[in-house]
Amino acid sequence: MHEFKYVNNNLYCEKVKIEDLARKFGTPLYVYSYHTLIDHYMKLKNAFDSVDTLICYSVKANSNISILKALVDKGAGLDIVSGGELFRALKAGCPAERIVYASVGKTDREIEEAIRRGILSFNVESLPELENINRISKKLGKTARVAIRINPDVEAKTHKFITTGKITNKFGIDLDSAYKILLLRNNFGNVKVVGLHIHIGSQIAESEPFVAAIKKIADFIGHLQRIGIGLEYFNIGGGLGIIYNRETPQTAQKYAKKILPILKKLNLKIILEPGRFIVGNSGILVTKVLYIKSTPKKKFIIVDAGMNDLIRPALYEAYHNILPLSEPAGRNELADVVGPICESGDFFAKERRLPLLRGGDHLAIMGAGAYGFSMSSNYNSRCRAQEVMVVGDRVFVIRKREAYGDLVRNEEIPMFLLGL
Ligand code: LLP
Repeated sequence: MHEFKYVNNNLYCEKVKIEDLARKFGTPLYVYSYHTLIDHYMKLKNAFDSVDTLICYSVKANSNISILKALVDKGAGLDIVSGGELFRALKAGCPAERIVYASVGKTDREIEEAIRRGILSFNVESLPELENINRISKKLGKTARVAIRINPDVEAKTHKFITTGKITNKFGIDLDSAYKILLLRNNFGNVKVVGLHIHIGSQIAESEPFVAAIKKIADFIGHLQRIGIGLEYFNIGGGLGIIYNRETPQTAQKYAKKILPILKKLNLKIILEPGRFIVGNSGILVTKVLYIKSTPKKKFIIVDAGMNDLIRPALYEAYHNILPLSEPAGRNELADVVGPICESGDFFAKERRLPLLRGGDHLAIMGAGAYGFSMSSNYNSRCRAQEVMVVGDRVFVIRKREAYGDLVRNEEIPMFLLGL
């Protein structure tokens, strides 16, 4: 469910007509519904009410500090993967003790900053990383809290680029090696192993892969508990799928119902790291039709957003529903919706049935809240889009449109090229 709906043939975000936003702020424009965002967070929170849970929203899905603050204010923690995301998390007012930090390639500088800030824990992805965290925390005279990220070697049944829990993926540590590390944990005097972590992939529609992975780790935790290795929490990662097209993903309630019986036996705090589930359907990308181009074989609708604004179709052939801002009557036709970028991969839809459109019409690319703006770039020297948040009938700019000056801000022309 989301709050983008037609009222009298016009698409609205909450109580605001999106056409008015497109005219006022220009396009491409990301529009987020605050209530849809919070609603999804609350759905998950309520589904896990019966256990001690911390929902650490995955910052990479959408890292705008207003989105982060909206969630943090409701009690969410944050899942980060870089020093930049730590910076954002703190700027959004997230208490350090609600931050978990994953990534196979944390640098010394990033580790040091996170230890100094006192984050809840690192999700450690290899033995050399654990040794490094131990070394750095010793230097700082601290004890770093860590969770071992385990690669459970399960099939997530999703796109191969977003599968992370197979043993051939770069993520996490296999069970045997994790066991050895846990037995030797006292050798690492400046780290405390407080949990285990898994994350098997993204856009997973069924609960079965989650159940398989969680069962595997639950058995392992059971064994650890029997031999006296106690933990504080089990971080079950993110990955919940959402509806882009005709998917029928599990609801938060169904997900919880399947896995809670396994988790409850462990008597541990549970951490979740959802990104897409919370923010995916709370954002859209609004774009303007520039030209309609008919070739002998095809019809192209050329719009002013490009793969630099939303790369998911180009990268994963991902499906995003595309809706006109004014609900059309009458005929429709098959067309490709493409951007202005100099690559054939620059498309949003192929052979899609759309109403007859004209230059100047606006379209909404739906389900663009997650991995939309956060994966955008300046490719083709295009300024990144503006972002606005709608709250009922109020509209707030949460990121200004970039200007040409922003494109070259950090560039310098060396003296020799200036003839000096
Ligand atoms: N935790 C970890 C350790 C992760 O690596 C990820 C996502 C998440 C949580 C959040 O996953 P979510 O709940 O959003 O599925 N760019 C791709 C998705 C990449 C996901 C990367 N990791 C896309 O646009 O589909």
